[in-house]
Amino acid sequence: MKSSKLVALGAACAFMVMGDAALAQGDAAAGATAFARCRACHLFDDTGRHRVGPNLAGVFGRTSGTVEDFPRYSENMLTSGIVWDDATLDSWLAAPGEIVAGTTMKMIIGDETMRANIIAFLKAGI
Ligand code: HEC
Repeated sequence: MKSSKLVALGAACAFMVMGDAALAQGDAAAGATAFARCRACHLFDDTGRHRVGPNLAGVFGRTSGTVEDFPRYSENMLTSGIVWDDATLDSWLAAPGEIVAGTTMKMIIGDETMRANIIAFLKAGI
């Protein structure tokens, strides 16, 4: 009983922190929910671990294909030299294969608002 109350309290605190980020970043909280679509393949935390795709911690502002210990980048991702910002992430999530030909990431987010929310979430950081 006692420990489950603590867990609930912890979850409430985490939610409040995310709420603050949402105020500062527009729709980052909605983006956190939408990021469920990405989580099967991407962690977004400080573990330094990767799934099928690289850990996305710090991805905003980073050059594409540069997570050093991620072993599965496609050839073109390694040489694409894209800096991930609002515009490039939006294009990437709308049509990955048009930004990096032959990329192994096939996930497409067709909804513009959802893309903006996810980008706000990534931008807010871990
Ligand atoms: C089915 C697995 C899968 C899903 C789902 C997926 N990705 Fe990816 N993602 C990948 C893979 C694999 C790569 C590496 C692609 C390459 O090297 O061509 C990648 C690469 C990326 C990169 C470039 C990372 C870098 O270090 O340059 C970003 C940004 C990204 N994904 C964002 C997302 C977001 C946001 C979502 C959710 C909307 C998402 N991905 C969903 C598999 C996935």
